[in-house]
Amino acid sequence: MDEEMKLKTKDLLTLNELGKTDLSGIIDNAIKMKKDLKEGISKPLLKNKTLAMIFQKPSTRTRVSFETGMFQLGGHALNLSADELQLKRGETIEDTAKTLSRYADLIMARVYSHEELELLAKNSTIPVINGLSDSFHPCQILADLMTIKEKKKKLDGLKLAWIGDGNNVCNSMIYGCAKSGIEISIATPKGYEPNHNVVKESGKLTEVKLSNSPETAVHGADVVVTDTFVSIHHQTTDRTNDFLPRFQVNSSLMKKAKPSAIFMHCLPAKRGQEVTSDVIDGSQSVVWDEAENRLHAQKALMVALLRRV
Ligand code: CP
Ligand code: NVA
Repeated sequence: MDEEMKLKTKDLLTLNELGKTDLSGIIDNAIKMKKDLKEGISKPLLKNKTLAMIFQKPSTRTRVSFETGMFQLGGHALNLSADELQLKRGETIEDTAKTLSRYADLIMARVYSHEELELLAKNSTIPVINGLSDSFHPCQILADLMTIKEKKKKLDGLKLAWIGDGNNVCNSMIYGCAKSGIEISIATPKGYEPNHNVVKESGKLTEVKLSNSPETAVHGADVVVTDTFVSIHHQTTDRTNDFLPRFQVNSSLMKKAKPSAIFMHCLPAKRGQEVTSDVIDGSQSVVWDEAENRLHAQKALMVALLRRV
């Protein structure tokens, strides 16, 4: 554990707040924390600290990994469904932020609107972590980069293919690749491209290719990634017909990547839609390590954010 590591940013909302060294430091600390946990070494680095977790949307991994991570670090996590807070009755985000800052040490929020998250962070005196918004999912990418580093022993120089929707996870993935020296090739149907500014900004640091061809994107890839075609904030729209059958990750598409390529998905997955069962449950898939690594990566993140204050 790099005891000296201190972040410049107060909050983690997109992943772009982290410099290259901060990002690689968090990933390396996460790998060390994972090893410690497996060896039964426990370090109560967040003893007596409280994490307030606000959920406007459902979650399995984010909820359980943050709560478990806080417990393992000697701290405490409060699960606050937005429906049970006074937010539901019209109390403002600003007032909620100011109130929680007087009790807790850290906030993690899963929200519909990224602007609401920015408002929450602006009005909190304590660090705010994005647990998924309509635009970004930085914690997922910390875990993803950690998983890639474990499997490939490096990040710099790798090629990653993103297939499907240029969504919130994709936007944070572009930032993560740019700061890790990974070349990213994104194949989406027309109209489903990732955020233009994220692509433009990240293009200064790494190669970011956009196309409508999954076959071209996966050519020579070390890592193939997809996500649901219907994110939680899209649930009322039927978009799957725009993706199927071309943008499904199946074994014939995987064969066009490197033979050593790994398959990743943040989960939850819809088998038969964005990915076939033989791929997600097959030998190239690392999705369970990826899910586990949310725990370790977020522990390293929380320690780094709280060391700063
Ligand atoms: N990947 C992810 O964030 O999963 P949950 O929606 O279950 O938290
Ligand atoms: N893109 C998905 C990720 C879920 C973890 C969503 O926003 O629903």
